[in-house]
Amino acid sequence: MISIETLKAHLGKTVDLNAWVTRVRSSGKIAFLQLRDGTGFIQSVIVKNEVPEDVFALAKGLNQETSLKVRGEVRQDDRSPLGVELGIISLELYQSPQDYPITPKEHGVEFLFDHRHLHLRHRKPWATLRIRDELERGMHDFFSDRGFIRFDVPLFMSTAAEDTTNLFEIDLFGEDKAYLSQSGQLYAEAGAMAFGKVYTFGPTFRAEKSKTRKHLLEFWMIEPEVAFLDHQGNMQLQEDMLSYLVKRILDKKAYELELLERDLTKLEPASQGKFPRITYDHALEVLAKKGLGLEWGEDFGAPHETALGEDYDRPIFIEAWPTKAKAFYMQPFENDPDRVKCADLIAPDGYGELIGGSERIHDLALLEQRIKEHKLPEAALKWYLDLRRFGSVPHSGFGIGIERTLAWIVGADHVREVIPFPRMLTRMEP
Ligand code: 4AD
Ligand code: MG
Repeated sequence: MISIETLKAHLGKTVDLNAWVTRVRSSGKIAFLQLRDGTGFIQSVIVKNEVPEDVFALAKGLNQETSLKVRGEVRQDDRSPLGVELGIISLELYQSPQDYPITPKEHGVEFLFDHRHLHLRHRKPWATLRIRDELERGMHDFFSDRGFIRFDVPLFMSTAAEDTTNLFEIDLFGEDKAYLSQSGQLYAEAGAMAFGKVYTFGPTFRAEKSKTRKHLLEFWMIEPEVAFLDHQGNMQLQEDMLSYLVKRILDKKAYELELLERDLTKLEPASQGKFPRITYDHALEVLAKKGLGLEWGEDFGAPHETALGEDYDRPIFIEAWPTKAKAFYMQPFENDPDRVKCADLIAPDGYGELIGGSERIHDLALLEQRIKEHKLPEAALKWYLDLRRFGSVPHSGFGIGIERTLAWIVGADHVREVIPFPRMLTRMEP
């Protein structure tokens, strides 16, 4: 059995293919079957006077999503993205379905997501999720090549790791409560002190009521954490990682990007690195000039991120945020305690914040003070303070959201497009 992905290597040969029919067009003497097999999409041709009469009649009447085995000759076809088509000699059915709901006509977004379990078979989600696989694989390769250890963290937590407003609470048999993890960072910090360089890779939960195109209730985050790394080194690591990933996808996923009709000139600059760095204070000046003035200390909303991103052809770092606007664990500048050594990486074209990262407080007394100021439960963070008590060192890390990053890479309208089964305020099924 041959796969569509590798058909070109069998040019001129007769091959067997397991596939599904996505569409049939026929005139009196010739029928075109569009086929997919999980590895790609091709057109096949069946000519009336080249096959037995019953085979032609069967082919002409096939319904959408019929599963079958075909035998055919691989021929050159320069109009096909894969460069080949199949001349069918014979076919054998596995199953002949009726009334497949996703027809070639236009369907609304809600209808498609109600049928997400089937929609995954279609070109756009298929290409998007193939790129997701490459992105994830690329992350593992990037970190593994640089000596990072993959470090798995718990998803049940006894306290918040970020702000306390978006926690999903879990009832522990009426006796106690826990929360779904919003970040594995605090555990990754323990990992960094044990292994030097670690990264987490897994789902994350945020009870955010925002119905924007950038928010999911359940999303996937990668959180590297590195001992002895400072804020500057942390930004460099992010830039190296993201430019590597974009370059790798441009190199390896050209077919999928073509199916998605992605404008590659929007991605190529990012593959070269050199992400601009601007301070939060400078960003406020830029925003004021664009009529989007903010008070010093305020966080950015979607319009601000979009306005800042639009001046550049690649992601940009916004660094040195007001201490009061950020999480409790961020290290302040020595000469400027009102600002912290952190950066958000903002994507072009309104895709928003892809990465949040910072140098962490390594001084025990300061961290204890911050935990009090942020009214976080001290008992639940006792173990975390031990990391500062025993051999504390400067260290940094960041969290990159897979869905935000992939939405930007593929040019999706909404983060729900880039995860197999999205979980949102308005969607728990399928
Ligand atoms: O900026 P955040 O909240 O950072 C942290 O959680 C840190 N603990 C990371 C660290 O330093 N280890 O989240 C990081 C990233 C965001 O930049 C964004 O890409 C993604 O997670 N993200 C979401 N993606 C989809 N839906 C949501 N509701 C998201 N919230 C955050
Ligand atoms: Mg953030």
